[in-house]
Amino acid sequence: MAAGDSFYIATPIFYVNDVPHIGHAYTEVAADVLARWHRQSGDDTWLLTGTDEHGQKILRTAVANDTTPQAWADKLVEEAWLPLLETINIRNDDFIRTTDKRHEEAVTIFLKKLYDDGYIYSGEYEGYYCVGCEEYKQLDDLMETETGDYAGQLVCKIHSRPIEVLKEKNYFFRMSDFQQRLLDLYEERPDFIQPESVRNEILQFVKQGLSDLSISRSSFDWGIKIPWDDSHVLYVWFDALLNYITAIGYGVDDEEFQRRWPATQLVGKDIARFHAVIWPAMLMAAGLQPPKQVFGHGWLLVGGEKMSKSKLTGIAPSQITDTFGVDAFRYYFMSAIHFGQDGSFSWEDLAARYQSELANGFGNLASRVIAMVNRYYDGVVPAPGAYTADDLAVQAITKSAAETADASIQKLAVHEAIAAIWTIVDELNGYITIQEPWVLAKKDETRERLGTVLYTATEGLRALAVLLSPVIPDATAKLWTALGASAGLGDLTDQVIVDAGHWGQLPVGSRLGSLEALFPRIEPSEVAG
Ligand code: MSP
Repeated sequence: MAAGDSFYIATPIFYVNDVPHIGHAYTEVAADVLARWHRQSGDDTWLLTGTDEHGQKILRTAVANDTTPQAWADKLVEEAWLPLLETINIRNDDFIRTTDKRHEEAVTIFLKKLYDDGYIYSGEYEGYYCVGCEEYKQLDDLMETETGDYAGQLVCKIHSRPIEVLKEKNYFFRMSDFQQRLLDLYEERPDFIQPESVRNEILQFVKQGLSDLSISRSSFDWGIKIPWDDSHVLYVWFDALLNYITAIGYGVDDEEFQRRWPATQLVGKDIARFHAVIWPAMLMAAGLQPPKQVFGHGWLLVGGEKMSKSKLTGIAPSQITDTFGVDAFRYYFMSAIHFGQDGSFSWEDLAARYQSELANGFGNLASRVIAMVNRYYDGVVPAPGAYTADDLAVQAITKSAAETADASIQKLAVHEAIAAIWTIVDELNGYITIQEPWVLAKKDETRERLGTVLYTATEGLRALAVLLSPVIPDATAKLWTALGASAGLGDLTDQVIVDAGHWGQLPVGSRLGSLEALFPRIEPSEVAG
C-alpha cells in the first residue's frame, strides 16, 4: 500500500445478548493492531466496531430479564461493550449500534433500492431456524439428540438446542442470481477470502448452488421495519451486515462513503459465510463494490473446544488484564496464535510467555539499556564511534525486521509481524551479552566503544518502540518517554512505521528518563485459572 491510501477495517458487530469474552476481544485487538499500524503508516485509516442489537435472540434475552430489548441493549452497551474497548485499549474511530437512527435510515434506503430494482419478492418460507445462530438451517446442520433435556428432538449442531420450525410469508432476496458472479469474484481475486481453508469451504458451498434468502420475519417486531410492509421486520443478519456501509454514510454522505469503502473485514470463521457470500451478493445487488477482503480468523479454544459463554468456558478479558495488564493481553493473543488458525488458550502458556518474552526478553532489555545510559552517561545518549561488524549486524536486522513486519501486516499475518520484530529483541539481548558494556565502562580506552554500544542499543530500542507501538501501546509509550525521544522526534504515534528500520534517528544528546519495569514479575499465586 502506498502511504495515504484509505484503509477501512471493520470487526463484526457483537450480539448484546451477553457480556464479552476473550474470543470477542481477540477480533477487536487484531483489528486495532492493524488499524494502528496503518495509521502509523500514514494511511487514511478508519476502524469500525459496534453492536448487533435486533432479532429474536436479543428479544428473548430481554424478556427473560424482564425488560425491553432496547433497555437491555442500552444497558449491555454501556456496561459491557463500550467498557471492553477501554479494557483492551481499542482506538476505534466509530462505534455503530444497529438501533442507531443513522443505521435504520440507511438500511431503509438500501432495502427500497433492492425492492425497486426487483431483487426482493414476497414468498412463503417453510423450514428450520436456530435462534442461537439467528440462521435458517438445512437438515445437514441439525442432529437428533438421544439424551438430555431435548432427547428425540432435532437440535442445531452448533448450539445443541432445539431449532424452530417456521412457516411464514416472508420477503426473499434473490441471492441465487449471484452464484456465478460470486464464483467469478472468488476466482478473479484469490485473496478476497482468507485464509485458504476458509476460502475453500466457501467455494465448495457456493458451487453447490445458492437458494434465495428469506429476509423478513413477521412473528415478532424487534427489528427494522420493512419499508413497504410494516407487518414485517428485517432478518437480523441482513440488518447487521449493512452496518459496514451505514456507518460510513451510505445513502446519506456519498463523499464519506467513497472515501472509505471497501473495507477489510475481520470475522471469526464461523461467520465467514455470511460475510463472503450473502454480504457481497447484497452489495452487488445494490451496485456497490464487494469488501476488499474477508479474513476468517480461527477460534480461541479452551480445553480443546471453542470458548463460549454458553458452554461456561467464557473468560472475561478483565480476568487477564487485571493480572497481566492490557499490553500483555494484546501481545499474547497476537503473537502466540497464528492469525487464521485456531489457538488454545491456557493460563500456563500465558504466564510462561509473559515471563520469558515480555518480562525477560523485552522489558528487561529496555530497563538494562536505559539504566546503563543513566549510569555511565548521566542519562544523555552518547555519540557512536566507528561501527564494527557487530553493530552493523544490529542495524541490518533492524532494517530487515521492519520490512518483513510491514509485509506481514499487509497480508494480515500479525503473528508473523511480531515474530519479525522480536528478532530485534533477541539480537539486542545477544549483542549486549557479547559486548559487555559493563566491562567497557571500566577503562578509559574502551569509553568510545561503550558509546557506540549504548548508542546502538538505545537506537535499537527506538526502533522497537515504533514497531511495537501498535501491539503494546502503553509499554512503548513509557519506553518512548524514557528514551527522551519526543523532544527530537515528536510523538510515538506520529512515527512513520515503515521508516522504523532507518538507522540513526534518535538524536545524540537525547536526555533519558527513568523506566519502571515495563512487565513486572507476577507471582504464580496471582494467576487465575
Ligand atoms: N452479531 C454477529 C455478527 C454480525 S456481523 C455483521 C455475531 N456476533 S457474536 O457476538 O456472536 O460473535 C462475534 C464474533 O466473535 C464472531 O466473529 C465470532 O467468530 C467471534 N467469536 C466468538 N467466540 C469466539 C472464540 N471462542 N474465538 C474467537 N472468536 C470468537 O456473530
